[in-house]
Amino acid sequence: MRAFTKTYADPQTQQQALAHHRWIARANPDVRIPKVLQVHPTGIDFEHLDGLHGTADDLVPLADLLGHQHTTAHTRELHAARLDAPHTSDGTTIAGFAAGRRERLHHLLASGAVPGLALTREAIDGWLERAATMPAAFYKDANPRNFLITGADVTVIDFDSLTLAPFGYDLAKLVVSTAMTTGPLPEDTIRQAVDTYNRHPQHRGLPGCTWGEFAAWCEFQHVLTAPYLGTNNYRFSWHTVRPAWTSDILRRFDKEWAP
Ligand SMILES: Nc1ncnc2c1ncn2[C@@H]1O[C@H](COP(=O)(O)OP(=O)(O)OP(=O)(O)O)[C@@H](O)[C@H]1O
Ligand SMILES: [Mg+2]
Repeated sequence: MRAFTKTYADPQTQQQALAHHRWIARANPDVRIPKVLQVHPTGIDFEHLDGLHGTADDLVPLADLLGHQHTTAHTRELHAARLDAPHTSDGTTIAGFAAGRRERLHHLLASGAVPGLALTREAIDGWLERAATMPAAFYKDANPRNFLITGADVTVIDFDSLTLAPFGYDLAKLVVSTAMTTGPLPEDTIRQAVDTYNRHPQHRGLPGCTWGEFAAWCEFQHVLTAPYLGTNNYRFSWHTVRPAWTSDILRRFDKEWAP
């Protein structure tokens, strides 16, 4: 079988990727991922799979897949997780949502390097606090390069990052990173992606992701992905391509929550 070899900076990152791969295989048993063929001291041989990266045209089908992945993982296992604490099962620990992320967001905000901010430090802390009691899904870095697509078949790749996250958070990563790659997305497509995603949790009696939450998670992704502008095919900063309704909605939240 043909292999795709991925090398890792250190043994810990490699072991983590293996653990994440095992966890996704268990939490999403009907989702296609490459087999692990062999493990080397500095790398992993994954099964080589054909397919093209996601594009703006794949947004709705990929949102559908993410909704399915998150709802399946929640129903099978993450219903027992709290977003503000690490989740351990079968020897694998998945970091909580705020752990590390809060510090990184604060640091990037303070650096002044992120253009067109729509969230203050206080608003970020407020959303993190609210997220602590939301139903748990996961973040696995749903950028369009982490899917390989052939016709209707989608393979999910890249097991480097995995944390707990609220429903809609990794969908926001998909939307923001796709817009950063290809430019402004039709508003209808974004709305259709969120609706399609939400059908999965709602079918299970879970609330899904509100428009306000989605807008906030897009801004988290903006801050966290801005340092990569100019690399990874990211040619557009989110603040130049975001739909106006996302920042309008966040301004309304700011007013409601003002002391
Ligand atoms: N199993 C595989 N079969 C075929 N191609 C693969 C496979 N795994 C990864 N690739 C290709 O290599 C690219 C980079 O792999 P991966 O996403 O795991 O690494 P990365 O360091 O996160 O890179 P990037 O920043 O581009 O996402 C993928 O976008 C894909 O094109
Ligand atoms: Mg990747």
